[in-house]
Amino acid sequence: MSTLYPVSLTTSPEGPMCLADIPLPKLAAKYGTPLYVMDRETLAKNCRDYTQALAKFYPNSLVVFAGKANLNLGLLNILAQEHLGVDVVSGGELFTALRSKIPAQHVLFHGNNKSSSELEMAIRHGIRIMVDHEEELVQILGLAKTLEKTAQIMLRLKPEIEAHTHDYIKTGHIDSKFGLDKRDLIRLVNWIKSEPSLHLKGLHSHIGSQIFDLEPFEDLAQIMTQHMATVKAECEIELEELNLGGGIGIQYTTQDDPPSIGLYIEKLTTKLKACCAELGIAQPRLILEPGRSIVGTAGVTLYSVGAVKSIPGIKDYVFVDGGMADNPRPMMYQAQYTFSVADKPHETPSRIYTIAGKYCESGDILAKDVKLPEVNVGDTLVVFDTGAYNYSMASHYNRSAKPAMIVVENGQDRVLVRRETYEDLLRYDEE
Ligand SMILES: Cc1ncc(COP(=O)(O)O)c(C=O)c1O
Repeated sequence: MSTLYPVSLTTSPEGPMCLADIPLPKLAAKYGTPLYVMDRETLAKNCRDYTQALAKFYPNSLVVFAGKANLNLGLLNILAQEHLGVDVVSGGELFTALRSKIPAQHVLFHGNNKSSSELEMAIRHGIRIMVDHEEELVQILGLAKTLEKTAQIMLRLKPEIEAHTHDYIKTGHIDSKFGLDKRDLIRLVNWIKSEPSLHLKGLHSHIGSQIFDLEPFEDLAQIMTQHMATVKAECEIELEELNLGGGIGIQYTTQDDPPSIGLYIEKLTTKLKACCAELGIAQPRLILEPGRSIVGTAGVTLYSVGAVKSIPGIKDYVFVDGGMADNPRPMMYQAQYTFSVADKPHETPSRIYTIAGKYCESGDILAKDVKLPEVNVGDTLVVFDTGAYNYSMASHYNRSAKPAMIVVENGQDRVLVRRETYEDLLRYDEE
């Protein structure tokens, strides 16, 4: 089944494309463009695909949204309604999470170089910290003692698996900047055990992103449960939690064929339960950290077409009023997307266009060779599956004001992040 389009996307026999029964060109006119639009129904579906499959196969679990994919207060509050936690990777993300309706015990803090003030904020609020390296452990211990608190920690291990979309290497990633070496695990656990200011909740590892193959996830479950068994045998600690990260891929184009979330959960938890039984360890509370697969397919970006420029015999450009500042992914790693003209869903795609952004870089190209109906100035171009790693990676390049983000549901639309103004751009400038 195609998951390219948001659940509430519809086209009537005559009119424009609608999301949650609202015509997309109408949203573009109301809020201006570029505009990030999140579909509440798709968000609910993606969250529930996780929570319902886990309720069936592995109830002792928690889904935390990887906030780096897209983070703002309104979105977190929606995810709180869906019973998700959040993982954060910076003081700014942590601050946002703490102001949201997600309870502090459902917030996890990652990062390979957390500052003292960031760690202090986490310890004060009882946030689980994913310890990246030994130096950080020393720092956490010092802070916890000073603050007279017990720091809740999990040890992040290098995954020992390098997973790409189509292939993977089991022994890879020893050179990753993230995580501890497994050879240090027992020594560190014994040390933590002797420190009352530290509470070791469990282990964590994350293998990568946009992965379609389920085998690396199963292998990760095996490797990590083996580490848990070693800790049990050598340190006499039965670890309570296991965080297996995020990474399942989504469909950006018809070429992509990701597994369903339900299948991923079924396979992963079946393997996890089998490994625990085989190794004689208690089933840990399973934490998963999906980012892209929660928000990616729920988001679309709307642009207005400012010009169509033909270079005869060479190519036809469609110029849109955004580009690399609101979506750097095509430029950063040749990410592919699916495009439509929201005003003309029924017209047959007959022309090949290059979609170019408005920024002062020749490389600001959103896509090449896109087949669309004839595009005219003023049309609303829609890009699908932009809910992940677009807004969160947006920049002010060329002094551009960041777009608004709205959410739509049952014919209603509301702002999650208001559009920046030129005055906002001057806010931190000194004369
Ligand atoms: C530690 C960690 N957890 C979770 C994620 C989320 O990955 P994804 O968005 O692919 O699900 C990432 C992404 O890089 C990550 O680094």
